[in-house]
Amino acid sequence: MTREELLAEVKDSFDEMVAVRRHLHQNPELSFKEYQTTEYIISQLREAGINEISRPAKTGVVARIRGGSPGITAAFRADIDALPIREDNDLPFCSVHDGVMHACGHDGHTAIQLAAARILNRHREELKGDVLLIFQHAEEVPPGGGIEMKEAGVMEGVDLLFGLHLSSSYPTGCFGVKSGVLTSATDCFEIDIVGKGGHSSMPEATVDPVVLGAEVILSLQTVVSRRIRALEPLVLSVCQVNAGDAYNIIPEEFHIRGSLRTFSEETREKVPRMMEEICDGITRSAGAGYRFRFEKGYASVVNDTALAKETEDLLISLYGEDCIVHIDPLMPGEDFSALQGTCPAFFVEVGTGNPAKDTCYPHHNPHYRMDEDGMLYGAGYLVSCAMSHLGALQDGRQRT
Ligand code: NI
Repeated sequence: MTREELLAEVKDSFDEMVAVRRHLHQNPELSFKEYQTTEYIISQLREAGINEISRPAKTGVVARIRGGSPGITAAFRADIDALPIREDNDLPFCSVHDGVMHACGHDGHTAIQLAAARILNRHREELKGDVLLIFQHAEEVPPGGGIEMKEAGVMEGVDLLFGLHLSSSYPTGCFGVKSGVLTSATDCFEIDIVGKGGHSSMPEATVDPVVLGAEVILSLQTVVSRRIRALEPLVLSVCQVNAGDAYNIIPEEFHIRGSLRTFSEETREKVPRMMEEICDGITRSAGAGYRFRFEKGYASVVNDTALAKETEDLLISLYGEDCIVHIDPLMPGEDFSALQGTCPAFFVEVGTGNPAKDTCYPHHNPHYRMDEDGMLYGAGYLVSCAMSHLGALQDGRQRT
């Protein structure tokens, strides 16, 4: 297959890709509950003539396209779940499931990977090696579906791993590329300040956890501003606070929840210790107690440097120099990381932002809309990565 043929086949697949995406958009399902979505993907794969299909978890699908000759295995991962958001759009294919919406573009990821599946299966005889298509459930809710897939052995025998995310932050036709660390590690913490309740008129007879909790919240910010090197990116946010039932009762306990986002394992290990020291010091000074819980969420997605460069060159050969945007690390977490660690991996951002079509709303917003033209670039990336790494992409420019 030449680059020209590849782009032409991707273009021919557009109408079907849009129909698939709209069907998924209309019928979104929450994380770990993607039963209909899973059945739909399986039926689409079967229709494409792909029969080597497995279900390593309750939801989610893995399909294998065997190449005509032996070689490496390149895996591609698309996430398939939707979000607990009530869609606020006026589209003919709006969500019919009240309070559930594909507001992160995973409907597009699934449609792209199904379109690529059809194209790659038609060309399977040319492939030197196998393509593994992972349709992963539950990206949005930690601990995520990725770990289930990995523990089920999905990554065994995989030599290269690729993923993508559509993004309204970049213009349609552009790819957001970054080598090295791409997304933050996203962890969650909970703190209980344990005091001694009593009458609001006699605080001296109590150990007031509200005042201590307020002190803890402010002091936690000094971890970022005073204790970690200024060039080290991290975010520590207290997002939930709960205490008390009445205006005149000093409560027994004060509850804090929040999230920590970091980009290096060292900082990820260090910060929780500093947080706990703060809780310990402040509560001890007042004769109160505390409980500190820290739960690790998704690890950082780390892009292989060589693969990032190769993919960038490949995308330039398809779409020209201007298609590449070199991006900064991204603060949102991404469960793709759960599949990493055993082989080189690359994850790219694919632009769908288009002011003319009003598709620049942020993801996870009830108004989120997608410029479906962006899916053409997503499918082009996916098919070209598979074809080139499995020795099936000819350099069209050398043809006479
Ligand atoms: Ni997403």
